[in-house]
Amino acid sequence: MTSSPRRFHITTFGCQMNKADSERMAGILQDMGFTWSENPEDADLILYNTCTIRDNAEQKVYSYLGRQAKRKHEQPDLTLIVAGCVAQQEGEALLRRVPELDLVMGPQHANRLQDLLERVFQGRQVVATEPVHIMEDITQPRRDSAVTAWVNVIYGCNERCTYCVVPNVRGVEQSRPPESIRAEIEELGRQGYKEVTLLGQNIDAYGRDLPGATADGRHLHTLTDLLYFIHDVPGIERIRFATSHPRYFTERLIRACHELPKVCEHFHIPFQSGDNDLLKAMSRGYTHEKYRRIIDTVRRYMPDASISADAIVGFPGETEAQFENTLKLVEDIGFDQLNTAAYSPRPGTPAALWDNQLSEEVKRDRLQRLNHLVSVKAAERSQRYFGRVEEVLVEDQNPKDPTQVMGRTRGNRLTYFEGRLDELKGQQVLVKITEVRAFSLTGHALLPAAARG
Ligand code: SAH
Ligand code: SF4
Ligand code: F3S
Repeated sequence: MTSSPRRFHITTFGCQMNKADSERMAGILQDMGFTWSENPEDADLILYNTCTIRDNAEQKVYSYLGRQAKRKHEQPDLTLIVAGCVAQQEGEALLRRVPELDLVMGPQHANRLQDLLERVFQGRQVVATEPVHIMEDITQPRRDSAVTAWVNVIYGCNERCTYCVVPNVRGVEQSRPPESIRAEIEELGRQGYKEVTLLGQNIDAYGRDLPGATADGRHLHTLTDLLYFIHDVPGIERIRFATSHPRYFTERLIRACHELPKVCEHFHIPFQSGDNDLLKAMSRGYTHEKYRRIIDTVRRYMPDASISADAIVGFPGETEAQFENTLKLVEDIGFDQLNTAAYSPRPGTPAALWDNQLSEEVKRDRLQRLNHLVSVKAAERSQRYFGRVEEVLVEDQNPKDPTQVMGRTRGNRLTYFEGRLDELKGQQVLVKITEVRAFSLTGHALLPAAARG
């Protein structure tokens, strides 16, 4: 038997949930005595935390894997792990496709990495994809940032949007108890973190599954209650959350965001389509009128709130006129940012089986037209920052200009300004905005001494 490998590398694909899982798995590996290797080629343990939301995300994983599988023939003690959503979707089939793999583990098993690895080091090939109750993790995550941190509040998703694999790969909703969420945030505050982002695929579902629901189905733990519950954690200056679902988004939540000073005025509320028939075919459970009312209400309480969303073009059966309803919604609302994607048929989802699929050419054309409109509108939205003073939480250096630091406004606009990271990291600085672009801003620091407090 060879001795256990000591250096690890993790490559993460996909959404913030996967990033958060990777940070926890990295924490577990460090606890086990492994050290981080930036270069995968120098690592003895490689973990791919994968995404299967669209076909291209899945294919990327296979090309990375092919390369490492080859390397394993020269270095048999290399440990190869596929975690995340492709692992969950493919399970055993992944071992048949890539027999060099040591461990295939679904997202619900992230916190069990140590147990699973112990079995691997006994010489077994392990597949862990059965649904489980997600255990609270007691190890310290290895977080990428020392300023902002992800905090899972609810795992899984009980929705059944007809295009989406997430419920298949992430399982049913499991909310964490408010007390453990608060304890994690308190620890972050003690460690000097300034911002937390609460995470869930459908964060508005938070608490539905916790004990304490009343007989009429109302629950005592909601996202709104959670925001009030964690709001006063010392050291934490900003609170964000994602992702919101228009079906469940309440005015009570909007009011809480308005009332609670640490909650940032940024809302990520995917609409997917601006056409009611398509929304129905997607099983989204709202109309574009309802979506518009939500945004109106947000803007009534917080006129300057920034709004971002996700949208899909080329869903099966989408006509040109229906696509134009999406363009119209984007035109009317004026998003600060919009993640757009061409529809990709996914295994195990209803819409993949329908016979009204559109050609790649139509999808590509619509995606381009939508993206063009998005950048025009985002540039318009950026204009409102010109000449204004914004509070920027400094996170890092500008990778393209070492004389500048970068951070985000409360509205989540990336902002650059002259300054030294060693002095400013983790500080909220007042920045006068002098240049605006569609998705970022440049300015200069005002009253740095006062802002540094
Ligand atoms: N829970 C979030 C989104 C999760 S997936 C929500 O309900 O909005 C992130 C985004 O990927 C989705 O918002 C959607 O826009 C996109 N997406 C999901 N499945 C897709 C598919 N099959 N093809 C193209 N885009 C997809
Ligand atoms: Fe997917 Fe819909 Fe759940 Fe979002 S709400 S993760 S789009 S099924
Ligand atoms: Fe991808 Fe899984 Fe997230 S499929 S988008 S990594 S939940």
